[in-house]
Amino acid sequence: MQILQDKNIVLGITGGIAAYKTPELVRRLKDHGANIRVVMTQGAKAFITPLTLQAVSGNAVADSLLDTQAELAMGHIELAKWADLILIAPTTADVIAKISCGLANDLLSTLCLATAAPIAIAPAMNQQMWHAAPTQDNIKTLTRRGVAIWGPGAGEQACGDIGLGRMLDVDDLVELTCNFFSTTLKQSLKGQHWILTAGPTREAIDPVRYISNHSSGKMGYAIAKAAQSAGAKVTIISGPVTIEAPSNCTIIKVNSALEMHQQSLEQAASADVFIACAAVADYRVADISKQKIKKSSDTLQLNLIKNPDIVADIAAMTNKPFTVGFAAETQDMSQYALGKLQKKNLDMIAANDVAKTGQGFNSDNNALTIFNQRDGQVSKIEIPLASKQVVANQLVTIIADNL
Ligand code: C5P
Repeated sequence: MQILQDKNIVLGITGGIAAYKTPELVRRLKDHGANIRVVMTQGAKAFITPLTLQAVSGNAVADSLLDTQAELAMGHIELAKWADLILIAPTTADVIAKISCGLANDLLSTLCLATAAPIAIAPAMNQQMWHAAPTQDNIKTLTRRGVAIWGPGAGEQACGDIGLGRMLDVDDLVELTCNFFSTTLKQSLKGQHWILTAGPTREAIDPVRYISNHSSGKMGYAIAKAAQSAGAKVTIISGPVTIEAPSNCTIIKVNSALEMHQQSLEQAASADVFIACAAVADYRVADISKQKIKKSSDTLQLNLIKNPDIVADIAAMTNKPFTVGFAAETQDMSQYALGKLQKKNLDMIAANDVAKTGQGFNSDNNALTIFNQRDGQVSKIEIPLASKQVVANQLVTIIADNL
């Protein structure tokens, strides 16, 4: 299951320079499973061609209210009913004014009047136009009516001005769309306690040195944020990380694998879900030196002992929580992940290929292959490359669907 699977999105494109970003937006929303039908204003066609949008969306582009052929195929009322969301990106000041007044003098504005679906707009215009009193009044009106206003962002504008008025990045719009559809989950995690391990562990060698790894904690913290905003009480048992903790989550800070193990076993007794996101050091130093080790010899041998497998110990509990592991692999990802799913007796494992650039360790993006084990049957779900927060939202939805 993908987070936007079977979701019908009408993407309205209006006449702003940011229209050139919309083919990528369509492609990314489709990657998450959405069906997209594009509606363009006349102004939009000055910036990007309908043929491009037709090619990426896989559907005919609608651009006229009074087109007999288009009305025969999917008329404007049918299109308004088909939509689960009307997303207008970019949205010019003119279109904001039109939908705020309730005009219906072209296809897009008519759809906005004729639909019962929610509407989200991604404003894009010169900063002066954005701050202008009529635009701000129109935005207040639309907000009052429940239209979601996504952006605008700040920065350098096509006209050279600097300020608020840029259309949000495609990544942000995809994230907001995914979040929008995962709000159906909002109430369903109420009353649940989710526990996550996150970040690396540090295994002391002496008072100043340790063995560790490159885990940033970003994936675990993003999952915590997604579960918390879906209503769960969330506890993060976190190794040392430099990122900011998500709000309204309990954080238990640990250093070593043994500390993480102890805290996990204590907390898991009350957990509904346990997600092992931490990159736990496989071994710890047998005899931690009480004093700083001096470089008196040319070689140094450290005796290492295997750390306990935290997630396997949680999965072995009687009354175990729904237990999810991660498998960061550089080769034969699926095979290793399936092996760990069985060996550690997990309910679910999320595998990621850390050999690919631009995803996994320390990156802001990730892609996951999820194997879910239920009644002896294993099913596979793919979450395509996206920001870790978007991936986390989808993972939380998938876990919630399998509880
Ligand atoms: O065996 P491997 O380290 O590849 O397994 C990865 C999964 O197991 C991750 O979910 C990780 O958090 C968890 N793990 C653990 N305790 C360990 C080692 C790994 O919980 N000592």
